[in-house]
Parts: sequence; C-alpha cells; structure tokens
Amino acid sequence: MAKPRKSFGLKPGDNLTWKYEVIEQVGAGTEGEVYKIRETTTGLTRAAKLYYKSKNANAKRFARYARKLDALRDCDIVVKYLHAEEVWIGDEYVFCLISEYFEGAILEDFLKTYRGGRMPAFEALHLIYDLTSGIEEIHARKEFHGDLHSGNIFVVRRGVFFSLRTIDFHDWGRSSAEERRADVLSIVRLLYDITGGQAHYKKQPQAIKDICLGNRSDLVLANYPTVFHLRAHLETFDWE
Ligand SMILES: Nc1ncnc2c1ncn2[C@@H]1O[C@H](COP(=O)(O)OP(=O)(O)O)[C@@H](O)[C@H]1O
Ligand SMILES: [Mg+2]
Repeated sequence: MAKPRKSFGLKPGDNLTWKYEVIEQVGAGTEGEVYKIRETTTGLTRAAKLYYKSKNANAKRFARYARKLDALRDCDIVVKYLHAEEVWIGDEYVFCLISEYFEGAILEDFLKTYRGGRMPAFEALHLIYDLTSGIEEIHARKEFHGDLHSGNIFVVRRGVFFSLRTIDFHDWGRSSAEERRADVLSIVRLLYDITGGQAHYKKQPQAIKDICLGNRSDLVLANYPTVFHLRAHLETFDWE
C-alpha cells in the first residue's frame, strides 16, 4: 500500500496554471485529489484530478489513461475528458486531468435519499439497466471500466430518467476479457447492494434474484458471461 500523501492543499481562489482558478476541493483518494475549478477566461466549471507522485503515476501510464478516456468520448456514460496539464505545485510537476464537472450526486450519497438507504426493486433494475447499457458501449470498444462501485458513479434524475456518469477507470493489469467480466460482476454486485444487500436479499422479487444469483460470481458469469447477455436479459425477462 502506498503511504499516505501530503495533500496538495489547494485553496479556493488559488490558481491552477494561468488558465484555471480553484473553486473547492471535491474529493481525495489514494491516487490523488479532485478539485472543482473555473476556467478563468470563460467562467466555465471543470473538474481537475491531480495525481500524487508514485511509482505508478508515471508519464506513460498517465498518457495511456488520457488516451483511453479520449477513445471513449462517444460513450455517454463516461465523464468527458478535456485535456491534460502538468502543474507546478510546491517543488514538483503534478499530472492533472481536466474533465467536465458533473453536477450530480455520487451514487453512494444518492442512495441515502431513499428510505433505509436502499432502492425499491423496480427502480434499482432501471438504474442497473442504464448502467449496463452504458458499460456495454465501453465493452463494445474493447475497453472496460475496472472499478465500478457506488463511489465512482454519478447520478442525476431528470424526468423519469436516470442520467449516469462513471469516473475513475482502473487497470488492474488483468486481461481485457477478465476486466470486462469483472465489470459484469461489479454491476450485479451493485444491484445486490443498492437493494439492501444480504439483509434484504431473501425478500427480493424473483427478478432481482435471477440476476444476483445469491451473489455467487460463478453462477452470475455462467448466466451472464458478458454485459450484452445481462442487457438482453434486463430487456426481456418475464415478471412472475
Ligand atoms: N468530473 C467530476 N465532476 C464532479 N465531481 C468529481 C468529478 N470527478 C471526481 N469527482 C469527485 O471526486 C471524488 C473522487 O474522484 P475519483 O476520480 O473517484 O478519485 P479517487 O481515486 O479518489 O476515487 C468523486 O467521488 C467525486 O465526488
Ligand atoms: Mg473513485
């Protein structure tokens, strides 16, 4: 595990290069920090993710990540990547990704607005369907997300629709096929979790159980070897 890092500690009003001004810090994790920023010339809001220096955060890896986001720019579910910067902070250059700022709630927090912190089955299936079709576009491009969980998915409800954005792609060094299967398992796991997890599983309608399959990865992958299978199932299953 990487040792805890000293924060970049950017404060509201600080400049980030001559182009941007910090509005506020919105996130911090093991890899780096995320700031809400304003493009000075236009007043437009953006997100900047600053990466801590580590043996993993090298120029090649950073460039590969930016190219991956760019290759996925037509996928609605991917937060829009804009460009990269190298920013001088303290006494070092820091890699920085600029992307659209998404004004939604992170799924983790969005769930708290539900009674008991869990979604009714029908609504959960809708959300999972949107996620599945969104991830399908990524897999169709032979790519994968790699770290799908409720902390990396943004949700906005508009009319009767959900609008989702995924952030924070990961590459664990597995093969792409394995990574895609891991995405399928993460989606199913998410359905299990947002409907209340183990404590509420027994009472779930058959529609939920036919997908979660007791949260057994071997069964899930046997039934849904790809995200295409899962999407097709969600579109056509019979209600009891
Ligand atoms: N494009 C964005 N728009 C708005 N908020 C963002 C954006 N990207 C990241 N965030 C916020 O920053 C947090 C951490 O971002 P993330 O990329 O997941 O980094 P980490 O490696 O710390 O998990 C997110 O949970 C979210 O609250
Ligand atoms: Mg994250």
